[in-house]
Amino acid sequence: MNNQQKLLSMAQTAASNAYCPYSHFAVGAAIESEDGKFYAGCNVENVSYPVGTCAETGAISAMIAGGSKRISAILIYADSKTLISPCGACRQRIAEFSNKNTPIYLADKNGIISETTAGELLPAGFKEF
Ligand code: THU
Repeated sequence: MNNQQKLLSMAQTAASNAYCPYSHFAVGAAIESEDGKFYAGCNVENVSYPVGTCAETGAISAMIAGGSKRISAILIYADSKTLISPCGACRQRIAEFSNKNTPIYLADKNGIISETTAGELLPAGFKEF
């Protein structure tokens, strides 16, 4: 299994554990960190809807808690027939730990269907100067 397949498998497993009783839209994210470790997260919703968190947020938290510092690649999987793409807030979170060329793989039921980069998804993100 190559690293991309491992990311897909981890994101699918995370999505299968998603807590999404309100949207019924399960998402999983998996990160390979620059130090060669792997982390996953899923969306965790809440009865107070805005309090829910995205899969990407969970995976980034797991990476930081696990002691890794930077994203080497991230894959986002949705248990759906349609393409998904990270929300604006998660684009900013991904950018915090990425380079502009860091690959972002987007996958659905058919497997990985699109590849983009952190720079493409957030071309004019907020940075401290
Ligand atoms: N969601 C994610 O976890 N990641 C995304 O990239 C897009 C949306 C979640 C948030 C919410 O729990 C559900 O998908 C429906 O919007």
